[in-house]
Amino acid sequence: MAKYYLAPMEGITTYIFRNAYHKYFRKMDKYYTPFFVPHSKRGLNLKEQEEILPAHNAGLFVVPQILSNNGNDCVQTIEKLKRYGYEEINLNFGCPSRTVASKYRGSGFLAKTEELDRFLDTVFSNEKDVKISVKTRLGRDEPEEFERILSIYNQYPLEELIIHPRVQKDYYMHEVRLSWYAYAEGHSRHSLCYNGELNTVKNIQEMQQRFPQTDCWMIGRGMIANPGLLMELEAEKLKNEKKIQSYGGFSIEKERMAAFLEDICIHYEEASPKEIYVLFKMKEIWTYLMRYYPDHLEKIRKIKKTQTIEEYKREVQEIFTLLR
Ligand SMILES: Cc1cc2nc3c(=O)[nH]c(=O)nc-3n(C[C@H](O)[C@H](O)[C@H](O)COP(=O)(O)O)c2cc1C
Repeated sequence: MAKYYLAPMEGITTYIFRNAYHKYFRKMDKYYTPFFVPHSKRGLNLKEQEEILPAHNAGLFVVPQILSNNGNDCVQTIEKLKRYGYEEINLNFGCPSRTVASKYRGSGFLAKTEELDRFLDTVFSNEKDVKISVKTRLGRDEPEEFERILSIYNQYPLEELIIHPRVQKDYYMHEVRLSWYAYAEGHSRHSLCYNGELNTVKNIQEMQQRFPQTDCWMIGRGMIANPGLLMELEAEKLKNEKKIQSYGGFSIEKERMAAFLEDICIHYEEASPKEIYVLFKMKEIWTYLMRYYPDHLEKIRKIKKTQTIEEYKREVQEIFTLLR
């Protein structure tokens, strides 16, 4: 059976978002935290602790992610995470942001294959009792770099290889390079997870038909824009298997969506006394939800202009009154 993972999205897929999603929508098989950057402090800082405290992630399969190009720093951070009970860690070689990549981290590190190899050697020589997966792009400048990069990954006992088939310089603009994902299917010794532009039921179905060997799918922006995406996919499958007689299409009930957003807002309010922070977090989610409610762009723009939580809640309530 296919497995689905929620992609890490810095600032968005926080523990508050993950918990609300898990409560209201189709549960994900794994949830990845936004990346941690190793630092020399003895423990994890408060924000990092909040993210991974077991009490904040009860009932969810959470995989913490590390962004680093220094093997020893990475090992130290893995040790800290293990103390919280984590048995699986993900390494980020995918982040395309210029500030990250220019320091040879994230997908920028893919330009330094010897260092990448040494990094993985340090991590895997020191960490025998934890599962380690990798989330990667194809390279920094050209997809052909992936041949060498994949041959390096093949030397280590990765738990899983998650591939976003673009290079760093593509950011999110260039279309996903599916022939290179096919290359990975043919040449990787690891089980693969596909990530990239799985935004609609049709996208997911087409990709599952094209890559039948892959049974693991990581979704990011498509899931924030439409948290009911997998419920929609499952309803569609039932329809095709004729397990349901009548089917009038699927759309998230507005009550479910409203409760989901309210849950997130309440928890951000509890976590921070700063109204501006809570507003920022909620508006960021609405930036993605705009795709799901294209008929209500004017209203959503009003939400994005609100200055207080009270105003925000009033505007949101108005939208849900308008929706069928
Ligand atoms: C705002 C934002 C934040 C992201 N933060 C992370 C991150 O912390 N770690 C990571 O590996 N990828 C991060 N990504 C990349 C996503 O995990 C994912 O690979 C990318 O969005 C492509 O998948 P999608 O087309 O399903 O969104 C981020 C992407 C966005 C848009």
